[in-house]
Amino acid sequence: MLLLQFLAPVLLLRSVTARPARAKGPLEPPHPRLPRTDLPAEEVPVTSRNGTQLPPYSYSYVFEQLIDHNNPSLGTFRQRYWHTYEFYEPGYTSYLTNSTINGRLAQELNGATVVLEHRFFGNSNPYQDLSVKSLAVLTVQQAIDDLAYFAQNVHLPMPGGDQLAPGNAAWILLGGSYGGALVSYAMANKPGIFYAGYASSAVVQAIVDFWGYFEPIRQAMPANCSADVEAVIAHVDSVIASGDSTQIDALKSTFGLQGLAHNDDFAAALQQNFFAWQDLQPDSGPGGDFYEFCDALEVKNGVNAGPSGWGLTNALQAWGNYWKATYYQQICGDDDVETCLGTYDATNPYWTYTYIDNAQRSWQWMLCNEFGFYFDGAPSSLPTVTSRVVTPAYGERQCGYRFPGAFPGNTTASAVKVPNASGVNGAYQGWETTTQRLIFANGINDPWREATVAADGSPNAGSDSQPHLISDGFHCSDMLVREGAASAKVKSVQDAAIAYMKEWFAQWSPSA
Ligand SMILES: *[C@@H]1O[C@H](CO)[C@@H](O)[C@H](O)[C@H]1NC(C)=O
Ligand SMILES: *[C@@H]1O[C@H](CO)[C@@H](O)[C@H](O)[C@H]1NC(C)=O
Ligand SMILES: *[C@@H]1O[C@H](CO)[C@@H](O)[C@H](O)[C@H]1NC(C)=O
Ligand SMILES: *[C@@H]1O[C@H](CO)[C@@H](O)[C@H](O)[C@H]1NC(C)=O
Ligand SMILES: *[C@@H]1O[C@H](CO)[C@@H](O)[C@H](O)[C@H]1NC(C)=O
Repeated sequence: MLLLQFLAPVLLLRSVTARPARAKGPLEPPHPRLPRTDLPAEEVPVTSRNGTQLPPYSYSYVFEQLIDHNNPSLGTFRQRYWHTYEFYEPGYTSYLTNSTINGRLAQELNGATVVLEHRFFGNSNPYQDLSVKSLAVLTVQQAIDDLAYFAQNVHLPMPGGDQLAPGNAAWILLGGSYGGALVSYAMANKPGIFYAGYASSAVVQAIVDFWGYFEPIRQAMPANCSADVEAVIAHVDSVIASGDSTQIDALKSTFGLQGLAHNDDFAAALQQNFFAWQDLQPDSGPGGDFYEFCDALEVKNGVNAGPSGWGLTNALQAWGNYWKATYYQQICGDDDVETCLGTYDATNPYWTYTYIDNAQRSWQWMLCNEFGFYFDGAPSSLPTVTSRVVTPAYGERQCGYRFPGAFPGNTTASAVKVPNASGVNGAYQGWETTTQRLIFANGINDPWREATVAADGSPNAGSDSQPHLISDGFHCSDMLVREGAASAKVKSVQDAAIAYMKEWFAQWSPSA
C-alpha cells in the first residue's frame, strides 16, 4: 500500500542557489498552503518496525518526469520526492511521519509514504526559470499527468519497489489545500490509478470572484468585531464612491495610509487584517494577530463592547490607530507605503523576477490562468467585512505585470484576460465530483471553505463512498495529528478517515 502526497509549497529542503535579491514589491495575499508539521530531527536515520535502518526523512530522491505530457519527445526533468517505508510490510501491496494523517494511515495500513514535489514549486523544474515561456507547462492537467506517470513508472527505493505500479499495489492519493483539489481532480481525470483518496481543505471549485474567502471568517469572528468592521467598510466604500478627494485623503490618513495613491490599493490594504485568520489552528491558543486586531476595535478603556460593537465613530478611529501604532510596522517594517501596499508600479522588477523556487509566482500563474480566487468584497446584497471597491479586475491587472506577453499589459479593466475557472470546473468536476472512495475533510473555520465541498452553496452532500467529514478546525487541520490532540472533532475526522480507508483497503485486490 502506497500513500502519495503532492507537495505544492516546499516545506523541507531549501534551495541554496545564489541569485540576485528580489526587488521589494507589494505584500502577497496568502495562498492555500499546508500547515507546518513537527519535523523530527531531520538527519537522524529512521528505524523501521522490524529494526532495519532507513534513510532520514529529509533524504530526497529523484524521479525522471516528463517535461510535457503532450509531447514526451521533449524529454524529462528531475522531480524530487521524499519517501519512507518505515511502516511498510511486504505482503501488502512529510508529511512522511506519523505526526501527519499520511503517516498515521501508513502505520495503520502498513503502507509506505511518498511526498512528491509539484512541478515549479521548489526545486523540481522542467525549465530552470519561471518565465512565461517555461510556465507554459505549468497547468493543472500537467500536474495531474505527473501524478499518474509517477505512480505508473516509479521504482521506489525499497524492497520490491519496482513492482508497485497501480494494479499491483493500492495507491492512495492524499493532499491538503490546492494539493487536496488535485486529489479529487486526478481521481476524476485518471480513473483506475488511485484506489482511494484523502482530500483536506480541498479547494476543488475554481471561483474567480472569491469574496467567499472572508465569509467563514465573518461567520466565526466575534460578533462585535464583525459588526464594527462592516460599519467601517460601508463608510469606506461610500467615501470612495463620493469621489470627494478631501474626504478620501482624510480617510486614508486615519489609517496612516495617505501615501497610497490608488483608492483600490487602500481598500485592499484593509483586507490585510483578515489574512491572519489563515494562521489559526485548534492548538493556536489565545491571542494571535487576528484577535489583537479585534481587541483593538472592541476593548475601550478596559471594557468589551456588547455584541453590536461600539459603532462607526469609535471603530474607525480605533482601527486607524491600530494601523498607525503597531500594525503597519508589523506587516511593512520600514518600507514606504507605496512599496508595501501599492500595486500600480508596472515597471517594478519585482513582478518579473523569474528565479526558480518562488512558490508565490508559480501559484500566481495558476491563479491568473485557471483558478482566479481573487479576494474581494461580497455582493452588495450581502454583508461584507472587506471593501467592494476591490474586484477581480484588481488581481487581473497584476497578471499583466507579472506575465507580460501572456496577459494584456497596461490595460483597463475591460481588457483583462479572465481565468478559465469554468473550464477547470467542467474538466475536473469541481464540487460536483462523483468520485468514489474519496474522503473530503474540511474545517468549518477554514477561510478557503467556500471553494470546497463544505461550502455553504455546495450542491454535493457526500455519501458513504464519498464521505464529507467536517470538524471545527481551520485550514488542513485534520492533516496534523497534533491538531487532533487539540480538538475532539478534528480527532473524530481523523479516526473516521482511518476507518473508511481500512474498510476500503480490505476490499482491494490486485488486478491482473
Ligand atoms: C525488515 O524489513 C525490511 C523492509 O521491509 C526487509 O527488507 C527486511 O528483510 C526485514 N528484515 C527482517 C529481519 O525481517
Ligand atoms: C509514531 O512512530 C514512531 C516511530 O517512528 C513511534 O515511536 C511512535 O510510537 C508512533 N506514534 C504513535 C502515536 O503511534
Ligand atoms: C467583544 O469583543 C471582545 C474583545 O475582542 C471579545 O473578547 C468578545 O468575545 C466580544 N463579544 C462578542 C459578543 O462579540
Ligand atoms: C500605463 O498607462 C498609464 C496611463 O495610460 C501610463 O501613465 C503609464 O505610464 C503606463 N505604464 C506603463 C508601464 O506602460
Ligand atoms: C477553458 O478550459 C476548457 C477545459 O479545459 C477548454 O476546453 C477551453 O478551451 C478553455 N477556454 C479557454 C478560453 O482557454
